[in-house]
Amino acid sequence: MARRILAAGNWKMNKTPSETKAAIEAMKATCASEETEVLLCVPSIDIPAALEAAAGSNIQIGAENVYFEDSGAYTGEVAPNMLTDLGVKYVILGHSERREYFAETNETVNKKMIKCFEHGLIPIMCCGESLTQREQGVTMDFIRQQVKVGFLGLTADQAKAAIIAYEPIWAIGTGKTATSDQAEEVCKGIRDLIRELYGDETAEEIRILYGGSVKGSNAAELFSKEDIDGGLVGGASLKPDFGDIVNYNK
Ligand code: PGA
Repeated sequence: MARRILAAGNWKMNKTPSETKAAIEAMKATCASEETEVLLCVPSIDIPAALEAAAGSNIQIGAENVYFEDSGAYTGEVAPNMLTDLGVKYVILGHSERREYFAETNETVNKKMIKCFEHGLIPIMCCGESLTQREQGVTMDFIRQQVKVGFLGLTADQAKAAIIAYEPIWAIGTGKTATSDQAEEVCKGIRDLIRELYGDETAEEIRILYGGSVKGSNAAELFSKEDIDGGLVGGASLKPDFGDIVNYNK
């Protein structure tokens, strides 16, 4: 079974609810596609406006983070059932910005992965090396650790449904995209790890995205690679031009 390409936007901390509404209205036409699965992960406070604006289109709305407890005294956090209650299905976990600025670790990411599946949420788990790690030649060791710990305790069926986004930190928001060969090498390494952990069937089904300065002009080449099943897109997902990534093959 061929894996369906996923064009996932990560809006980060951009756009108010009213800006969200206007932006999605404008993106409905450019992001229409029958082949590519389209998702915009937006700030939690923007989710209701985004869902309303995207209604009736092929654009799905996801979240950028979630907490690993069901409810309670966790000021400022968002619980999984708050997202599912709105109809959200996908959530980004462990983005490098959350790891760097909000003390997210492989262990907290793992707790969140487990909690997501308890609630029927599909995690898009991010991993990726820094420039120093790449230069030191430890890229794959580092990423294997992130994925292994992130997936601890997940069943093969859960692993199959999960999505991994490989995002080299040096390529995020820098305009410096990994070459398609560099991206493919790591995405293949991640799929090989999933094969070691869960077997062939899971490895063939799990979707692995590349992220880091994906844009309309490089999406086709990246997505043509055997082990790259789409992109996690920051800056280029904020405007109607995101449609050039969605329709990368047109
Ligand atoms: P970028 O961000 O596309 O702006 O490089 C990607 C991401 O951080 O997910």
